[in-house]
Amino acid sequence: MRRAVCPGSYDPATNGHLDIIERAAALFDEVVVAVLINPKKQGLFTVEERLEMLREVTAGLPNVRVDSWRGLLVDYCRQHDIAAVAKGLRSVSDFDYELQMAQMNRELSGVETLLMSNNPAYSFLSSSLVKEVATYGGDVSEMVPAVVHERLKAKLAQ
Ligand code: PNS
Repeated sequence: MRRAVCPGSYDPATNGHLDIIERAAALFDEVVVAVLINPKKQGLFTVEERLEMLREVTAGLPNVRVDSWRGLLVDYCRQHDIAAVAKGLRSVSDFDYELQMAQMNRELSGVETLLMSNNPAYSFLSSSLVKEVATYGGDVSEMVPAVVHERLKAKLAQ
């Protein structure tokens, strides 16, 4: 079984994330979308809410499952017999940091990292910008899955 993990904060998931998850699912037997919990970062959505949204948007992908993890990504990979990390690259500015993490993770555990070029239609997208634009009433309906858009509107109305 060739297994990969798509790790991230997913606060919330965007269409760019979903594109990478779908493409990873076409390459591997099983893909785990893992919400990595960062205790230092207070998210807009709770981890449970992020998991619920991810489960909904990946429901049509039979070889994708969703999970959360607090700790090192390489420890999650070891415990779940995952040989590869699959991530998207939006721009050269992503590259430096992603390469550094890929090298660190390989040094720590031998896990490989597959950096996939993002669909250029999504290269400007980030969860942080989506939240900022939505906070000030901007239209993000084309940038996130419909379920995320609904949850975002409800959350910001609170
Ligand atoms: O969506 P993000 O916030 O860009 O994702 C970054 C993430 C969560 C993938 C990265 O910070 C991570 O892997 N965190 C888990 C802790 C860890 O393993 N740190 C060492 C990375 S070399």
